[in-house]
Amino acid sequence: MELVQLPNPTATRIRSRTGFSPTLGELLKHVEDAQNDNPNAPTQHVLDLNSTPNSSHPFVLSFTNLTYSVKVRRKENDATDAKTDNAATKILLNDISGEARDGEIMAVLGASGSGKSTLIDALADRISKESLKGSITLNGDVLESRMLKVISAYVMQDDLLFPMLTVEETLMFSAEFRLPRSLSRSKKKARVHALIDQLGLRNAATTVIGDEGHRGVSGGERRRVSIGIDIIHDPIVLFLDEPTSGLDSTSAFMVVKVLQRIAQSGSIVIMSIHQPSYRILGLLDRLIFLSHGQTVFSGSPANLPPFFSEFGHPIPENENRTEFALDLIRELEEAPGGTKGLVDFNKQWQLKNKRISEKTLSGIPKVSLKDAISASISRGKLVSGAPAGTTASSVHTFVNPFWIEMAVIAKRSLTNSRRMPELFGIRLGAVLVTGAILATMFYHLDNSPKGVQERLGFFAFAMSTTFYTCAEAIPVFLQERYIFMRETAYNAYRRSSYVLAHSIISVPSLVFLSFAFAATTFWAVGLAGGTTGFLFYFLTIVASFWAGSSFVTFLSGVVSHVMLGFTVVVAILAYFLLFSGFFISRDRIPPYWIWFHYISLVKYPYEGVLQNEFDLNPPRCFVRGTQMFDSTPLMEVPEALKVELLKSMSKTLGINITSSTCVITGADVLKQQGVTQLSKWNCLWITLAWGFFFRFLFYLTLLFGSKNRRR
Ligand SMILES: Nc1ncnc2c1ncn2[C@@H]1O[C@H](COP(=O)(O)OP(=O)(O)OP(=O)(O)O)[C@@H](O)[C@H]1O
Ligand SMILES: [Mg+2]
Repeated sequence: MELVQLPNPTATRIRSRTGFSPTLGELLKHVEDAQNDNPNAPTQHVLDLNSTPNSSHPFVLSFTNLTYSVKVRRKENDATDAKTDNAATKILLNDISGEARDGEIMAVLGASGSGKSTLIDALADRISKESLKGSITLNGDVLESRMLKVISAYVMQDDLLFPMLTVEETLMFSAEFRLPRSLSRSKKKARVHALIDQLGLRNAATTVIGDEGHRGVSGGERRRVSIGIDIIHDPIVLFLDEPTSGLDSTSAFMVVKVLQRIAQSGSIVIMSIHQPSYRILGLLDRLIFLSHGQTVFSGSPANLPPFFSEFGHPIPENENRTEFALDLIRELEEAPGGTKGLVDFNKQWQLKNKRISEKTLSGIPKVSLKDAISASISRGKLVSGAPAGTTASSVHTFVNPFWIEMAVIAKRSLTNSRRMPELFGIRLGAVLVTGAILATMFYHLDNSPKGVQERLGFFAFAMSTTFYTCAEAIPVFLQERYIFMRETAYNAYRRSSYVLAHSIISVPSLVFLSFAFAATTFWAVGLAGGTTGFLFYFLTIVASFWAGSSFVTFLSGVVSHVMLGFTVVVAILAYFLLFSGFFISRDRIPPYWIWFHYISLVKYPYEGVLQNEFDLNPPRCFVRGTQMFDSTPLMEVPEALKVELLKSMSKTLGINITSSTCVITGADVLKQQGVTQLSKWNCLWITLAWGFFFRFLFYLTLLFGSKNRRR
């Protein structure tokens, strides 16, 4: 890594630890050193958007010859020669070059499907390096993904927001995730308020975002909130995919006006846009028109008329220039020669213009990326509002330590659940109704052979119910999934803190639900063991709720659709119940299925509560003397005859069996059920351990499964 001499002679030299471009932390340290040397260094501000950019440190994002293609499967009978080769490549971006500068808005235009979103994705490093050809540089340096993540922001086409948070809360959570910890809470608040004013959201600040079910802010306001959460830290490069889609012309104009102010504060703004209005066009500085992944025009809006008149299609006086251009492009696309003529004409035009612009630009000094970023940070970018003493250690890949991330995630999640109490209410209702039905169906079971069967049935049903009630957790993560993906894409928090925070906050509600279920059923059914028996029963239910919710959470990380999630969960839980040992005891399960018995989550709590019920001291008796004839053909025989039968049996067997002799104790029931391998406490621990295991698997699915990138 070469050494960099800063313009400020007293500033220290920086050398990257890694040998690649320095981390933001190192840059900040470097800025801080420079400031300490210079008492007149500008003090930090809370983003003053009207400040003029420091033109001596310009940013230039250039991209050259970007080409991206994907393999598409053709149907066998689709194309004429496709029979042999049914994988064809489709070129989404074809040799696209251009340049964007800070202080300017670069807009990508084109018909639907022309490749606008693809180009923005390519520039924002959301397409894997292997498939994207060409180069993207910022001030001449190839951008590392890690660096781009820190200095840029990407605003998606869809608004992914929590519906029950207010505008201010949404922005405040974003501030807590993205602004450094060294910044006090009041500074963060100040930044949020400055942003609210800047986005023109003052009137909507305390309104909830809302969704289909709840009235909330308007579509235009929601769009501006979406932009706000991504620019809270004042990024240097801002990518937006169709920020104005679906908005009326006034709202769209306001959004672009906000973007212009952001650009003027020293950022590069690159966005795609559908048919900008005349007024919006006046705010754009550079345009790129795409058609089938190729550039058909690139330049400033003022260049449009001369370009098209030279091409032989002058733009009529009182016509919207972009509309005319887009219509012409569409006409050419449908014509036999396609847009080839226009693409070639654009290439010549670019070559001609390049010579002119090279002459005029040669006066602007070229600044290295590191210096430009340092200068930008010292003006308050990236760490907007950070005190001058921001040290290297305070800004890393993740701005907050683990425990703060957890606290913020937990707080946000609790706020959300508090605003939607009906969700918990429905769960509690489901548990109470099931408990009440079970309690009345199995009311005060006796100790007869029938009672034993009923108890077994009760336990099997009760334990699997706890798992089924957990299926409600599926939509919870699926709803949050895309928000989660967006936030982790720019390192708002660690995936591990997300998993841990969600695990921890789920516990109190699980305990509450377990208690409600245990208390409604234990005494009503007449289960054994008194207070200690109840406690174990309650703990087992907590453990199975925990294991069940972890299992369902893990599945929601694997499947991507709610209906699919429910289908998979219901099917797997049914198998768990089938293999739990209730329908068929372990020694009767075919050897090639026995592994399923051991992974059945229902097996462990089921065996635990069975032992809690049947393995008591002193032993309880479930079949006495003549009761052994119940459920046999001899059941209808008169009682006196049964006593006679017992007597003759005693004689033949050589043991004395009277009508009060206990023939089957609780321990015998357990043996018959094959519940002999684990103690009840081990069953409880294993159930809990399954819960932890699935949370860990969930973490792994998030780690490997949620890469926000195209291949
Ligand atoms: N994985 C893929 N396989 C095949 N074709 C794809 C794939 N991804 C995108 N495309 C195609 O690439 C083209 C460009 O898509 P892109 O999303 O960039 O269009 P767009 O200009 O953003 O359109 P819109 O204005 O509708 O958002 C489209 O024709 C699309 O069908
Ligand atoms: Mg698009």
